[in-house]
Amino acid sequence: MKYIPIEQLDPEKDLILPCRKNQLDLLKKFTANVTPDFEGEHATFQTFYGKGGNRIYALGIGEEKDAVKIDKAFQKLCFDTKKYWKADMQLQAAALNEEELQKAVIGLEMGTYQIGSFKTEQKAATETEIQVTGNGDITRVINEAALIGTTINRIKSLIDAPANHKTPEYLGSWAKESAGQNQYKCTLLGKSELKEQGFDAVLAVGRGSENPPVVIVTEYIAKPGAGIDIGLVGKGITFDTGGLSIKPSQNLHYMKSDMGGAAVVLGVVELVARMGLNINIVGVVASAENAVDSKSYRPGDVINSYSKKSIEIIDTDAEGRLVLADGLSYIIKQFQPHQVIDLATLTGSVVRTLAYSAAGMFTNDTEMATSMSDIGNRINERVWQLPLYEEFETDLQSDIADLRNFSGKPIAGAITAAKFLQAFTDDHKHWMHLDIAGVAFGDSHYAKMKSSTGFGVQLILEYIKTLI
Ligand code: BES
Ligand code: ZN
Ligand code: ZN
Repeated sequence: MKYIPIEQLDPEKDLILPCRKNQLDLLKKFTANVTPDFEGEHATFQTFYGKGGNRIYALGIGEEKDAVKIDKAFQKLCFDTKKYWKADMQLQAAALNEEELQKAVIGLEMGTYQIGSFKTEQKAATETEIQVTGNGDITRVINEAALIGTTINRIKSLIDAPANHKTPEYLGSWAKESAGQNQYKCTLLGKSELKEQGFDAVLAVGRGSENPPVVIVTEYIAKPGAGIDIGLVGKGITFDTGGLSIKPSQNLHYMKSDMGGAAVVLGVVELVARMGLNINIVGVVASAENAVDSKSYRPGDVINSYSKKSIEIIDTDAEGRLVLADGLSYIIKQFQPHQVIDLATLTGSVVRTLAYSAAGMFTNDTEMATSMSDIGNRINERVWQLPLYEEFETDLQSDIADLRNFSGKPIAGAITAAKFLQAFTDDHKHWMHLDIAGVAFGDSHYAKMKSSTGFGVQLILEYIKTLI
């Protein structure tokens, strides 16, 4: 969709009219003699008709507490009604503040997301121009929000793509293409480069698949000669069978989403480049398919890693921490970023702890933690801090190698996974790990099965903006 600012509403044209709870007086201005059958509750709407027969979508945006999720209301309205939309549509945004307007546009854009990209019959996407009246100059806000919404949709369709299409090499070509179009650097490390440079943990995880692993390195440098402000690392497992420690088949199909962390990294770097933010950022995606094969790595194996620490494999299903270990060691050694954040659909344990409500956040940097948590609350992509207590280190001690990849205990799984990662950060003072297993993929009103949520793109983008 296209968004343009306008000065005056045209009373003859279709209109989206956001209404706060129990404040429906505004409606009278646009419609004749109406008695609304709704109170303006968050994410409810009613269609009225204007004097010229034009549609007035009264959209409930609820109370003050609902402001952080205003995008959901717009997303629902767009999804439910867009088939009736004409080539242009108006949005009365004068009562929305800047943050609400940004979210409203992101929501509208997300409402155009088409999940059925593999259906033989494709729905024709009608290009609607949304004309927005707001308070003062809203051009920057709506342009930026449209960009964010578009990228979130691209990221969502990557996460929803099936693993037979979305191989590690496919993620690599996606990144290459994006880098070419948006003027940032992208280097792909294929199997031979990974061997040469010692990415032994990534190689071990990918050994059982005919789709070879790839490490994607993206760089956007706005300040040449200055250091890297932030490094992002994403878990890019394109399918997680569990390997020889195979997962049960129920819900196994959802494991195509095990590259949700990688998708966020790719999306954020693309957005930072498109927005031309004044920051130096590196994004590393460690991608492999965790498959079952006679060549697969085994429980009991001892493997090497980029950091040269040896790892005893207890469970081949704890593969995310292995590829991330190499990604973290690599980014810290090669780029010395001032801050490092990794994102991963890392553990079932975090889902049992925080369900679908927040990502698990791990860091020893209290400033980063406070900032990330405040941003998460503000934009409704919440994070909740869990501890990195020293006593969990004993769980990762191996008799025969430097570390083992799983404690073997059915407790504190998200924490021990984070402790494992920490061992590969070279004691970086400004490292944060976000376990997004519960929030990257979930139920929605527009899909029958679970699908991608886009969680993390807005969170990390807003976080990066605070570093400028
Ligand atoms: N990809 C999974 C984690 C996951 C679970 C993501 C549910 C999304 C939804 C990860 O690789 C995994 O299998 N973790 C195991 C680790 C265990 C074997 C130590 C887990 O958490 O059960
Ligand atoms: Zn796994
Ligand atoms: Zn996994």
